[in-house]
Amino acid sequence: MQIKDSSNTYCIIGDPIQHSLSPAMQNAAFKAAGLNSSYLAFRVKKGELGESIGSLRATGVSGFNITVPHKVEAMKYLDEFDSSASKADAVNTVHNVSGILKAYNTDIYGFIHPLHLRNVNFIGIKVLLIGAGGAARAILAALEAERGISEVNIANRTQGKARALLEMSRTRQLNCNMITWDEISKYSRKAELIVNATTIGMGNEPGLLDYQDINKDAIVYDIVYRPVNTEFLENAKYAGADVVYGYEMLLYQGAKSFEIWTGIPAPIYAMKKALLGTIGEPS
Ligand SMILES: NC(=O)c1ccc[n+]([C@@H]2O[C@H](COP(=O)([O-])OP(=O)(O)OC[C@H]3O[C@@H](n4cnc5c(N)ncnc54)[C@H](OP(=O)(O)O)[C@@H]3O)[C@@H](O)[C@H]2O)c1
Repeated sequence: MQIKDSSNTYCIIGDPIQHSLSPAMQNAAFKAAGLNSSYLAFRVKKGELGESIGSLRATGVSGFNITVPHKVEAMKYLDEFDSSASKADAVNTVHNVSGILKAYNTDIYGFIHPLHLRNVNFIGIKVLLIGAGGAARAILAALEAERGISEVNIANRTQGKARALLEMSRTRQLNCNMITWDEISKYSRKAELIVNATTIGMGNEPGLLDYQDINKDAIVYDIVYRPVNTEFLENAKYAGADVVYGYEMLLYQGAKSFEIWTGIPAPIYAMKKALLGTIGEPS
């Protein structure tokens, strides 16, 4: 089937995908911008990725997002790479430009933009990054562009993955160190920026850090966006710290994808409204 009319079709691929917020957010953006475009979600299992990207190419899809677990594997099946994709060594956005599938990583922008909006001064700060999966790669790439960070301490449940992330960081201009899972609270007390890049908070696990282990002058960033108010963020607020919500990263990565695809500024307000309408307002 060839998609031929003047409307453009976009989608997200991943597994699981049924709870993705991207269709609501991007369809709200197309509507607000007056574009006759639509955005769908497709479940693509591991092992079916090459075939699925081939099908999207054949149907003439205008662009797509890629989510867990395909952000690294997908690079094998795409044609060109923006510098953001190379920096993170992972991709989440693809633009079909006359049959050439060009890949980007908009998680980098999505992560850093909320910190820029808060005018965070990165000079001399100590960062604690918890997690070493796909999102942590984009976060490290984002932090690399901020000059003057004193150190980034990385903790992950599986030490081997933290080590692999550290290997990537050796080529970066960041002073990164690996710490053990048991050392998290020791490092969190002196960190000025604490980031949860694990899935902890999505389920009923206890919060990542106690309020006593969070400095009141710290910025605490949870990239988990469902629920909006994670226990980790609640503890951070109780400690007096500033917080950054996961939905903010989701919003700005989606806004950047929209702008890559359409060439026009993203209707942020409509996108945010669609997101928070689904997951609830932060308190
Ligand atoms: N806000 C946004 O826009 C945005 C964007 C991307 C991702 N995210 C969110 O970020 C989280 C991570 O995504 P990802 O793409 O990096 O996933 P991923 O590649 O699968 O990595 C998952 C991470 O979570 C850790 N983890 C999972 N279960 C754990 C547990 N019970 N205890 C301790 N650590 C655990 C993993 O540690 P191990 O290595 O030990 O397994 C790993 O560091 C997800 O919640 C995702 O929804 C948000």
